Amino acid sequence: MDILHIEGGQPLHGTVQISGSKNGTLPLLAASLLIKGESIIRNVPDIHDVATMISMLRTLGAKCTFLEAGVLKIDASDITSCKAPYDLVRRMRGSFYVAGPLLARLGEAEVPLPGGCVIGSRPVDYHIEGFRMLGADVRDRHGEMIARAGKLQGNTIYLDSRTRSVGATINLMMAATLAEGTTVIENASREPEVICCAGFLRAGGARIQGIGSSRIVIEGVEQLDSCEYESIPDRMEAGTFLMGGLVTRGDVTVTNVRADHLDVVIRELLRTGAQIDRTEDTIRLRARMRPTAIEIATGPYPGFPTDLQPTVAVVGCVAVGTSVIEETIFDARYNYTDELNRMGADIAVKERIAIIRGVERLYGAPVEATDLRAGAALALAGLAAEGRTELSGAQNLDRGYERFEEKLSSLGARLSRERDRSEEAIC
Ligand code: EPZ
Repeated sequence: MDILHIEGGQPLHGTVQISGSKNGTLPLLAASLLIKGESIIRNVPDIHDVATMISMLRTLGAKCTFLEAGVLKIDASDITSCKAPYDLVRRMRGSFYVAGPLLARLGEAEVPLPGGCVIGSRPVDYHIEGFRMLGADVRDRHGEMIARAGKLQGNTIYLDSRTRSVGATINLMMAATLAEGTTVIENASREPEVICCAGFLRAGGARIQGIGSSRIVIEGVEQLDSCEYESIPDRMEAGTFLMGGLVTRGDVTVTNVRADHLDVVIRELLRTGAQIDRTEDTIRLRARMRPTAIEIATGPYPGFPTDLQPTVAVVGCVAVGTSVIEETIFDARYNYTDELNRMGADIAVKERIAIIRGVERLYGAPVEATDLRAGAALALAGLAAEGRTELSGAQNLDRGYERFEEKLSSLGARLSRERDRSEEAIC
């Protein structure tokens, strides 16, 4: 396990450039499998999950080359396999995104079913029901999804209206691009990452309407063609750095962002008393005082993102007053709260609700991160705390944050990484 040594108490000051979005880019890489030709994808972040997806594409026969930093060329002219290796799906649930494109392009897909995860049970039943609605014969063979179809047939698919699954929307939208006839996805996710994927598919010639609404209509086409597309900025990374500014009472500007993707987050941060100035692509946050308490329920976009729930909890930890957070998306996403309590926080969790009594000060302590966003939250807590924090499991950060320590150091944070190369990150 990697250990991040953090010397807390230093306000973050300065400007940081936000990288391409992890959750926006992974679907683009998978969607490139639909194209019998080349895709060029820009703003690709240099993170472990992207490396895992590139390994997956290569295993399936695609050629992947970085033309320059952040610019990836994928040639999926020849897909030689419809079988996703267990080892890659085990490492990253996002690998399941190859199922829809493989099924649409080759008429078959064999993809191991991803198991649960440290943030909760994460089934893929909506994806599978959707593939069936598109005419595929889908079976479970010892924990592996075996899906066969001649040509997929368009249909109307109703997703669960409460969860509005991001992954199922994207997987089914990708599959439907090459289906016969029209597919309608009702209760679709409206997440920016879905819009990004739809934009890429359209650039390749897909016919998709209703993007950004909860009803997406896809008219199948014969094939998709070579295209070039830029991934969106990472709103979770931007939110993390802004909250870093808030909990250390600093002055942080994030650039290369889509400020509109963070509307709800900005609204909540303003309520804490922080001063925020925004343009279309920059956000500056200044905080001089302890934040005031927050009351937040996570929800599908445009709700408050579950991926920023752990980091916003750190805001609650140092706030004046009692904060309440309700996690409505995942059933086990408070796995970091005991660790924060070791640092002097006062968090009580009952099922999906966290009650956080703000404290004057957090104290550095040895803590462990079991997933990416928990890692970000504990790192922020370490930066806000008095004294030294030893954050184990820091390799989890590499899954989704590009050059995390380097960017924080440029803002004045005092931290360093002790690397352990003997283990891989798994979720
Ligand atoms: C995506 O996961 C993200 N991952 C997650 O980010 C993010 O937290 C999540 O969306 C919600 O915004 C990627 O984009 C790679 P869902 P996904 O399908 O697609 C239930 C991070 O930290 N559900 O929208 O897997 C599910 O259990 C990660 O970057 C089913 O029941 O999420 C959850 O309760 C973690 N059956 C809810 O729906 C299904 O078939 C929403 O999940 C699918 C989902």
